[in-house]
Amino acid sequence: MEVHQNKLNSFFLLITSVAALSGILFGYDTGVISGAILFIKKDFQLTPQTNGIVVSAVLLGAFLGAIMSGRLVDRLGRKRLLIIDAILFIAGTLLSASASSISFLITGRILVGIAIGIASYVAPLYISEIAPARYRGALVSLNQLAITLGILLSYVVDYFFVNHGGWRFMLGTGIVPAVGLLLGMFFLPDSPRWMCSRGDAPSAFAILKRIHGAHAEQELADIQKSMTPEGNWKMLFARHIKSTLIIGVGLAIIQQITGINTIIYYAPTIFNLAGFEGPTAAILATMGVGLVFVVSTIIALPLIDTLGRRPLLLIGLLGMALSLGLLSIAFSHAGTFPFLKWIALSSMLIYIACFGFSLGPIMWLMIAEIYPLKIRGLGCSIATAANWGSNMIVALTFLSLIEYMGASHTFLIYCLLSIISLLFIYYLVPETKDITLEQIEENLRAGLYFKKMGQINLTFPALNRE
Ligand code: BGC
Repeated sequence: MEVHQNKLNSFFLLITSVAALSGILFGYDTGVISGAILFIKKDFQLTPQTNGIVVSAVLLGAFLGAIMSGRLVDRLGRKRLLIIDAILFIAGTLLSASASSISFLITGRILVGIAIGIASYVAPLYISEIAPARYRGALVSLNQLAITLGILLSYVVDYFFVNHGGWRFMLGTGIVPAVGLLLGMFFLPDSPRWMCSRGDAPSAFAILKRIHGAHAEQELADIQKSMTPEGNWKMLFARHIKSTLIIGVGLAIIQQITGINTIIYYAPTIFNLAGFEGPTAAILATMGVGLVFVVSTIIALPLIDTLGRRPLLLIGLLGMALSLGLLSIAFSHAGTFPFLKWIALSSMLIYIACFGFSLGPIMWLMIAEIYPLKIRGLGCSIATAANWGSNMIVALTFLSLIEYMGASHTFLIYCLLSIISLLFIYYLVPETKDITLEQIEENLRAGLYFKKMGQINLTFPALNRE
């Protein structure tokens, strides 16, 4: 079997970096509210209810953005939708940063949320359709790295503007990456795989040539070979699509119900509950969590394509379940021994690190890989909506759970959900390293579902040559 080694070129890295700006926006615009809300609360005299609405407006918007855009991304293409999305980011940011009333602010935040919901899956999808198979995991995961960097950046900006102007500047700074995304996307090509699906093989070939050089012809032939004449939303009900929907939606829900955003959104609260008090606790919570996140995601980048998706997911989830168990034990004895707060702190950091090298990047990667081309956008959008929907439920219920059953039992629930998720992944989720998107589609059509859809078939050498 001939195995061509596609090298990464600078054109390709440029595409990934511009697309990853949307990851920065995702992270920035979700993270920034934690600092800004303290000032907004004073300016608009928020009640606990309006406070909750302002904070969760982005989550609601993201859910709507994801569910509404699935057919658009297959119809308009990845590039055009990302351009529209950048405009939405700009409009939402301007509206919320200049809002003169609470309703304008909420509308602006919902708009930003819609933009985040679209960006969260269209950028990984776009990168995965352009990347050579052997680098696809690392390149798509750069997007998750961008999300964590965006969160860290929002913490730093919040910290800076505490004494220099307040919430309007905190929210308004998001305009910078949004304008960068808009300008950058104008100059980038669309996904060659999407172009093929619209019957524009010559344009697809021109782009493939810039990415794959001499292998472009073979690449185009593979993509065309995997084309099916049918292809609309009705395909979602086809037998061979069911398993992809179960895996995509399953992974998307798992990423949220194992509790990541209780820590991202409420880290200072949890730190206080564990016995750390005062401003040092807040700084530790925000910076420490952000830093561990970035480092663990960087560690994941080379491993995703070498060790593979499944081992990282399984090790990561096991680590998350154990650290949540430990956190639960630490909280059940809170206040009895001073060292327990350090156990709580360490288990939170281990939990974050385990998420950072597993579920964080791999969920977004896999939902961009498993669906057949003709409904890839739609499939991704359904999984993404499930992700934002469960994010919202966890964010809205977390504080009440803590109040009614205590921190120890609450974290025990997330621990149990992590164990169930581990079993789901062990029994159902395929390994997709080294396999082309076309071969996955070929497998599905041949009746290889769930774990088997990632099987590399050596009788199709052309499909796996990267
Ligand atoms: C998740 C977000 C989370 C973020 C943290 C993403 O993969 O979807 O819900 O806030 O990671 O970096």
